Amino acid sequence: MIPQESSVSATAGGPALAAVVVLAAGQGTRMRSSTPKVLHSLSGRSLLGHVLAAAAPLRAGATVVVVGSGRDAVEAHLAQIAPEARAVVQHEQKGSGHAAAVALAAVPDLDGPVLLVNGDAPLLRASTVTALVEAHRSAGNVLTVLTAEVDDPTGLGRIVRADDGVVRAIVEERDATDAQRAIREINAGVYVGDAAALRRSLASLGADNDQGEQYVTDVLGLLVAEGAPVGGVPAEDADDVLGCNDQRELAARRRTLNDRVLDDLMRAGVTVVDPLTTWVDVTASVAADAVLEPGTQLKGTTTIASGAVVGPDSTLVDCSVEAGASVVRSHCLGASIGPEATVGPFSYLRPGTRLERGAKVGAFVETKNTEVGEGSKVPHLSYVGDATIGRGANIGAATVFVNYDGVAKHRTTIGDQVRIGSDTMLVAPVTVGDGAYTAAGSVITADVPPGAMAVARAPQRNVAGWVRRRRSGSPAAAAAEAAERRAEASDDGRSEASGADTEK
Ligand code: UD1
Ligand code: CA
Repeated sequence: MIPQESSVSATAGGPALAAVVVLAAGQGTRMRSSTPKVLHSLSGRSLLGHVLAAAAPLRAGATVVVVGSGRDAVEAHLAQIAPEARAVVQHEQKGSGHAAAVALAAVPDLDGPVLLVNGDAPLLRASTVTALVEAHRSAGNVLTVLTAEVDDPTGLGRIVRADDGVVRAIVEERDATDAQRAIREINAGVYVGDAAALRRSLASLGADNDQGEQYVTDVLGLLVAEGAPVGGVPAEDADDVLGCNDQRELAARRRTLNDRVLDDLMRAGVTVVDPLTTWVDVTASVAADAVLEPGTQLKGTTTIASGAVVGPDSTLVDCSVEAGASVVRSHCLGASIGPEATVGPFSYLRPGTRLERGAKVGAFVETKNTEVGEGSKVPHLSYVGDATIGRGANIGAATVFVNYDGVAKHRTTIGDQVRIGSDTMLVAPVTVGDGAYTAAGSVITADVPPGAMAVARAPQRNVAGWVRRRRSGSPAAAAAEAAERRAEASDDGRSEASGADTEK
């Protein structure tokens, strides 16, 4: 579901907008990717998701998304992120104008102002769209186009104005005269138009242009010719209108969006040590007085509480990190990291991991589907899967929770204040009672009662002189012989000394 960032007052009769129409059927050839263009993602949302999020606060009566190229994937994505939206298929990609006509034909009863927006405008903000709708309404236009004055208008449609400043036409670069190419005011690909006027003019669109496509941009010239009132409103921030047509632009938009997210966080009191290497999705949240060290990535629904320190070099996806916790050089997915808990360096926390207050998951530890109780520690080199660990327990280095029998996964339960010896194999399903110990190197296959010491390993056998006999001439044998000589010499010395003693 797309969160609503702000809202526009709806008129008494209904929503402020009759519909939002997103044009998302284009191939995106310039991306040179098998992924449909609008499904490429940045800062935690697809291109399409960003556009829908910008439009969401307008609370339009209907949301229509025109799909075509890669339609199955786009429709499936839409059903996930905006189930209330309607996908309308443009079977042949005959241009943005044709796409808009197909959309409006699918909602024939629709009347009133419609927001038409390109699906590849991920930097569009709700405030910008809202301002456009308000300007459209207050000017009494039949069509209002969002524009921007840019330094480099290459590839974009130019806004042609008459001497008195009135908008006359939008001309695509490839169809523009030299004089028109010099214009730096461009078409953002975001329009508010009256549904009836749009239907009328879209129906009479030609394709007499360099690409032989029906351009939605030509609607403006057609309405001007009718004498209908049209307008062009510059965006407050020119960044908002930047489209995304190839991989380089995708990277640039991602950078801009990330800068915006980090700026907002820093203004709200978050310490971002290195904004250049810190990436935070628009869907993540970070509280004041949290610290993000260099190389931190916060993705999805991740939340970081005040006083937590994340990084350096950590990626958190759909995690929660509570107050005062720390995560160092780790990769965490769907984990809940409780207050004052510590993670890393080099931990891998997988979904279903839950660390209670003050718990520790240390170096080279992987966890999955596991609760680590208050103050319990898994300090080194362990795999902990499908487990419940009580409070105050210590899991020795290199312990493995053997959860998988090759067919099914089984759970291990560890009580409070348990001490698991280093290199214990806990073969699930198995329970270790409160206060119990396991001896280092044990393979635990049966439950351990509370307070017991479980020893499950072969007794040690020392085969004396084996190296000298079986590895004679080796450095090991030489070392062993030298040690034996030293031992004999000190035995002699000791008996001489003790002999002297007894003489006294
Ligand atoms: C378009 C505008 C241009 C504007 C720029 C802003 C046109 C003709 N030109 O150019 O004036 O400056 O956006 O970024 O609209 N689409 C369909 N079906 C089609 C063709 C396109 O749904 O048959 C959709 C695309 O998915 C895209 C939008 O329409 O979201 C615009 O198409 P695109 O090819 O990206 O147009 P641009 O060349 O970027
Ligand atoms: Ca485009």
